[in-house]
Amino acid sequence: MWASLGLLLTSALVGKVIAERCPQICICDGIKHQVTCLKKNLTEVPVNIPQITQKLDLRGNEIKVIPRGTFLPIPYLTHLNLQKSQVASVEEGAFRGLGRLVYLNLASNNIAFLYQEALDGLSSLQQLILENNRIEEIKPGAFGQLGFLSFLNLARNSLVYLPDMVFQGLPLIKWINLSHNTLHVIANEAFGGLPTLRRLSLDHNELQFLPTEALSRLSGTNWLEIGHNPITYIGEEALEMASLKQLFLDNMALQDVSHRAFVRSPLLHTIDFHNNQLFVLHPLREMAYLKKINLTGNPVLCTCNMRPFKEWAEKARIHVDVACAGPAAFKGQQLESLRTRDMKCGGHGYEEELLASLPTLPREPEEDAPKCPAGCTCSSDFHHANCESRQMQSIPKGFPSNTQLLDLHHNEFHSIPKGSFPGLKNLTSLHLQNCKTAALQPGAFQNLKNLVYLYLSNNSITSIDPDVFQGNIQLAYLYLDSNRFTQMPKGAFSFLPNLLSLHLQHNSIGQLSDKDLEGMEKLRWLYLTGNHITHVSPKALRDAKMLEKLHLDENFLQEVPTRSLRELPNLIELKLSKNPIKYIGGGAFLPVARSLQHLYLDSMGLEQVSFRAFTGLGPKIKSLYLEKNKMHNLPSLRSFTALEVINLSDIPFYCNCQLLPLRKWLDRLNLRVGATCSSPADVRGQKVKLISTFQTCPGWGTKKAKRTSSTKARAGKRSNRKRWSGNVQIKRSKKSKA
Ligand SMILES: *[C@@H]1O[C@H](CO)[C@@H](O)[C@H](O)[C@H]1NC(C)=O
Ligand SMILES: *[C@@H]1O[C@H](CO)[C@@H](O)[C@H](O)[C@H]1NC(C)=O
Ligand SMILES: *[C@@H]1O[C@H](CO)[C@@H](O)[C@H](O)[C@H]1NC(C)=O
Ligand SMILES: *[C@@H]1O[C@H](CO)[C@@H](O)[C@H](O)[C@H]1NC(C)=O
Ligand SMILES: *[C@@H]1O[C@H](CO)[C@@H](O)[C@H](O)[C@H]1NC(C)=O
Ligand SMILES: *[C@@H]1O[C@H](CO)[C@@H](O)[C@H](O)[C@H]1NC(C)=O
Repeated sequence: MWASLGLLLTSALVGKVIAERCPQICICDGIKHQVTCLKKNLTEVPVNIPQITQKLDLRGNEIKVIPRGTFLPIPYLTHLNLQKSQVASVEEGAFRGLGRLVYLNLASNNIAFLYQEALDGLSSLQQLILENNRIEEIKPGAFGQLGFLSFLNLARNSLVYLPDMVFQGLPLIKWINLSHNTLHVIANEAFGGLPTLRRLSLDHNELQFLPTEALSRLSGTNWLEIGHNPITYIGEEALEMASLKQLFLDNMALQDVSHRAFVRSPLLHTIDFHNNQLFVLHPLREMAYLKKINLTGNPVLCTCNMRPFKEWAEKARIHVDVACAGPAAFKGQQLESLRTRDMKCGGHGYEEELLASLPTLPREPEEDAPKCPAGCTCSSDFHHANCESRQMQSIPKGFPSNTQLLDLHHNEFHSIPKGSFPGLKNLTSLHLQNCKTAALQPGAFQNLKNLVYLYLSNNSITSIDPDVFQGNIQLAYLYLDSNRFTQMPKGAFSFLPNLLSLHLQHNSIGQLSDKDLEGMEKLRWLYLTGNHITHVSPKALRDAKMLEKLHLDENFLQEVPTRSLRELPNLIELKLSKNPIKYIGGGAFLPVARSLQHLYLDSMGLEQVSFRAFTGLGPKIKSLYLEKNKMHNLPSLRSFTALEVINLSDIPFYCNCQLLPLRKWLDRLNLRVGATCSSPADVRGQKVKLISTFQTCPGWGTKKAKRTSSTKARAGKRSNRKRWSGNVQIKRSKKSKA
């Protein structure tokens, strides 16, 4: 046996020496340990690359698939370049073994989707370049394995939406480039968990508003590029970024900026507003560090209206770069070179006259400008049309046929008739919220083949005819929240094979019945917060097999709808907060235990939780919300080993020896949980984690003793459960809160 092992070793060595030779088609530099195989029509990574290679350049080949373990034979790679190689698929474990790789360039390929496991093993990676691919979606945690990544380039992809925590698990990231996507919606927690991020590029996207809340999570970011987005207005306190110094708001459609827009970003040093449509800017007071404002390319009118700004800028020693667009006498002159007292306003009508005389006026139709219905504004650059808040009573017609976004919110369209949007084949986003709409007539949205977003929030719709969405095959995000549904609008969804996200929160839906989700094979997120749901039938959800998020909070459920959770193999987030659920029985979450990561059970008036309630749940769970309930103890949480958030505040814990297992678990947990004792009286209001009561409990001491005592405590829990949930205890805990 030893002999044959020796033989194996020798042949392995020989094999290695042979492999040190260079693949014929490539150029090998043995000193720099560099191999280059540029534009060789390679369809796979050559097999006999020298093992000690550190840099591998495979640009311009035809490597369509990168199979698992491709690079295992060359584990010393530090740089790998696969640009322009027609890569469409990166299999799980494709880069496994590349623990020394610091630079990976996958730019200009055909990657549409990246599995988390695709990036397995890249534990030293610092730069990941995915620019110019076809990525449409990133799943939260996709980059979770890249603990050393500092630079992530996702520019020039097709991202539309950034979900919560999408970049989590990047503890050293410095720079993320998301330019040149089609970002439309950014979830509030999308940038959660990025305390080290210094620079973010969001320019050249489709954002209509500053994503204030999402950006506020970036407490360490000092450089933000968000220009080239169709934002028209920046409101008060619209940017809340504690460390921000450089802000780029160029080439947007800005018409107005609140004088308090940036007060929550007190360190701002430079704001670039070039190429917008600002006629006037107000003094941006309270900005102690502001030094530079660039207003070139705006139709700034150097009249009396700009005086306060000029005076303020001079006093605060802010350098402003702007040439006046009018009045005629000052045209082309720098604002800084004018004397304030010369900046005058004429009498009535002077401004209008002035505006009319300006050649670059945005509202003045250009010669080949597209048509636009009266009362609306149409921006040809962004293919947007806007008629919001115009007290319109019928939907205007005659929008440019290339319109992609149509904003009609806050008007009065009591009914949306058939064929309301003729010829808008490229429309992707339609805003009809706050329109007092009660009826959608069959065919209302006909011919909108490319519609992706439909906003009908805050109307008076009670039902939807099954034919309403016929032909809207691309529709992915449908907002029907704050309407008057008393039951699920059944049937209408069978025309929406691509529906991803359905908002039905704040209606009056009373129950979920069988077939309510029929046709929603691709639905990922279902929002039913704030309805009147008392019952979910066991088969109600089974058509939505892809469901990831289910929000059933603020309803009238009296028990966890365990049976309805069967056949939801992908459920990640379940919200049941604020339902009157008093008791959670054994195995309540068992059907979704393999996938569930976030569980919300707070504010329910829970009195009792079975010691087997969490059976099956464990290391998958990242957040568990149990605050504001009425039980006195909890089942063992030992299997929850990967928690990132847990909230146990406002639970009236009964702090005797029965609680020792929880206390021991808390001692090892490195998270704030907020658990306080409510009784007995001598420890009321004290932190479970700090009281000394437990030191006298059997099992507090050595490890061995600990184990036996916690077993005992758990056994005891069962017999005591009933007693604890008695009324006496509950009353006492209420008193203790007061
Ligand atoms: C690659 O393929 C193209 C087109 O078939 C051909 O013109 C070119 O010579 C090939 N290059 C190499 C290095 O074989
Ligand atoms: C981000 O990517 C875009 C598109 O390639 C590029 O033009 C831009 O310079 C990058 N931004 C930064 C800050 O590097
Ligand atoms: C302001 O922006 C314009 C256009 O990008 C640029 O040419 C100019 O140098 C900028 N001014 C300052 C002072 O940075
Ligand atoms: C719609 O979009 C496509 C693809 O971008 C384009 O080719 C076409 O010209 C557009 N249609 C109209 C009417 O603008
Ligand atoms: C909903 O509509 C009502 C009446 O039109 C309005 O007062 C309210 O502000 C709207 N709510 C939201 C969230 O837009
Ligand atoms: C727990 O929830 C309470 C009430 O909502 C909140 O005030 C507290 O900050 C939360 N604590 C933790 C640790 O998340």
